[in-house]
Amino acid sequence: MKLKLQGKKAAVTGASSGIGRASALRLAKEGADVALIARNRERLEEVASLIRTEGRRAVVIEADVTDAEGVKTAVGEAIKELGGLDIFHCNAGIYLRCPAKDLRMDQIRKVMEVDYFGCLNCVYAVLPYFLAQKSGSIVTTCSMDGKKGVPPDAAYVGAKFAMNGFFQVLRQELRGSGVHVGIIYPSRMDTPQIAHVDCPKITPKGDPDTVAKAVVRSVVKKKKELMVPSFSCHLLTWADAISPSFSDWLVRVNRLSGDENGVEPINEAK
Ligand SMILES: NC(=O)c1ccc[n+]([C@@H]2O[C@H](COP(=O)([O-])OP(=O)(O)OC[C@H]3O[C@@H](n4cnc5c(N)ncnc54)[C@H](OP(=O)(O)O)[C@@H]3O)[C@@H](O)[C@H]2O)c1
Repeated sequence: MKLKLQGKKAAVTGASSGIGRASALRLAKEGADVALIARNRERLEEVASLIRTEGRRAVVIEADVTDAEGVKTAVGEAIKELGGLDIFHCNAGIYLRCPAKDLRMDQIRKVMEVDYFGCLNCVYAVLPYFLAQKSGSIVTTCSMDGKKGVPPDAAYVGAKFAMNGFFQVLRQELRGSGVHVGIIYPSRMDTPQIAHVDCPKITPKGDPDTVAKAVVRSVVKKKKELMVPSFSCHLLTWADAISPSFSDWLVRVNRLSGDENGVEPINEAK
């Protein structure tokens, strides 16, 4: 059976944990060689060895997405080591829970620096290469927080709304260039990022592999936007279009609990 991504070459940021790790493993399962980008080399090596047991190539590249030059070097290394690049999954990100009234500007800037500008550093590093070869997929992990504001996530929501807007424009401007842009909007996924908070029983945390499968689907079918899980996320966006009061209520009854007094963004390489 022919694999969906046989012979393709992919790079994933935030591949050392959670959704990025699941995405790297899934892309490899579908036949791609993968460059794994994040700061924690040890965890990246672990993912790389799993990929190699699948018979795919895995390249470990240590980089901080907030460092534009470092990201350019990382993308160059991925292209050189893999012998080209077809897929770039912009995924690295951090999360901060803190009521808007208590946020400090340095906290907001830090989230923006990683989640928004970090992602743009990747886009500007890989886009010239994809435009020159007239093909390639840039897929980003946004969030349902990039479609509907959810308390107490104001800093994170701001960064994800910015990312959503940027990628929607990028996708339209790149129409006809051969470069595909896909945006994935996960709801809550069972990853270390939200391990410290609990979900209501009716909306449990999802398996990060469901997001990884959406990444593959976006690449293969050239999907512009995918929400995960589809039904409940569509329900929320429809509710929001009809009545913001109704969608505010939906968000309130489904809210995450725990750790609501504000913490420093978890962004130290561990
Ligand atoms: N979990 C959810 O419920 C959920 C829902 C919607 C969207 N998302 C989004 O999905 C993406 C992945 O989140 P996750 O849940 O998988 O979180 P996670 O398990 O905490 O993983 C985050 C990844 O980002 C990397 N990272 C963080 N800061 C970085 C930096 N400055 N430079 C390079 N890499 C950095 C981390 O690697 P190192 O520490 O090794 O650098 C790690 O691999 C994020 O963009 C997040 O906002 C998550």
